[in-house]
Order: sequence, then structure tokens, then C-alpha cells
Amino acid sequence: MFSFRAIGRVRSPYKATAEIPKGLGTKHPAEGVLDISPEFEAGLLDIEGFSHLFVIWVFDRSEGFELTGTPPSDNRPHGVFATRSPRRPNPIGLTVVELLRREGTQLYVRGVDMLDGTPIVDIKPYLSSVPQESLRRGWLADAEARKTNTK
Ligand SMILES: C[S@@+](CC[C@H](N)C(=O)[O-])C[C@H]1O[C@@H](n2cnc3c(N)ncnc32)[C@H](O)[C@@H]1O
Repeated sequence: MFSFRAIGRVRSPYKATAEIPKGLGTKHPAEGVLDISPEFEAGLLDIEGFSHLFVIWVFDRSEGFELTGTPPSDNRPHGVFATRSPRRPNPIGLTVVELLRREGTQLYVRGVDMLDGTPIVDIKPYLSSVPQESLRRGWLADAEARKTNTK
């Protein structure tokens, strides 16, 4: 077993899951604040230099898990580890956000898909060294192709 404590909370415009955009090709332009506890402020030193951040957080309002499920972006079932389902054995969320500015312990960001008050367990600078041409997008690419073909 592991135990983590929150380093802060997400301030988001979303108060209910139904308000958060879902489905194929969804964009997340919503702005929010990563409100970090003052005791961790020194850990934010030099974070302003990064345009994007990985935010690791907890699905604190989801219950239980399903090993397979049909996501909003497809009409076919997939394994939980091949999706971004909130109902996972370990309810950990991962979101890439754009860092707009920092004011003390508050990080103003764009790209939130979390509910207001969501606990944050870690933040890391976003760095990707995977070339675009090496990325495979699995069932999501198939779902997108099917959608295009039915238009
Ligand atoms: C599909 S998940 C993806 C989250 C993250 N980008 C990831 O990949 O881990 C996003 C959904 O999680 C749900 N959600 C957001 N914040 C939550 C929270 N604190 N507790 C439970 N569910 C949450 C909402 O329904 C939202 O649409």
C-alpha cells in the first residue's frame, strides 16, 4: 500500500461531471488554478519556465472500478488501462495543462478537465521526446476513422 497527501487543489469552473466536455475530438480550453499548499511553495521554484505541466491528481468523486468499459469516445468496449476512465483500480488522473502564469502558490492554467476541489498529488514539467510519427493511437484512431467515414 502507498499513501499520498494532496499538495494542493484544482480550482476549476466545473462543479459537476456533466459540465465537462466529453467524446471524440473534445478540446479542453477551460482555465483554472492549481492552488498549491503554502508548505510546498519552495517546490515551485523555476516552474514558470515551462509552458506545459503534467498534473497528477485523484478522482476523489468516482467510486469503484470496471476493468472494461465503453468510453464516451467510442461505441465499443476497451480495457481500463487502454482508456482514461475515472473508474480505475487506482483512481489517478493525469492531465497536461498549459501554464499561463504563476502568482505565488497559485498556478493559472488552461486545459483543466477536473472537478473543482480535485486533490493534486504531484506536478511535473511536460516534456515529450516521442516523435509524432512514432505515436500510435490505438482504438481511438479507429473510432475517429469510423466517425469520418460515416459523415
Ligand atoms: C475521462 S477523465 C480524464 C482525466 C485525465 N485527463 C486523465 O486522463 O486521467 C475526465 C473525466 O473525469 C471526471 N472527473 C473529473 N474530476 C473528477 C474527480 N475529482 N472525481 C471523479 N471524477 C472526476 C469527469 O467526468 C471528467 O469528464
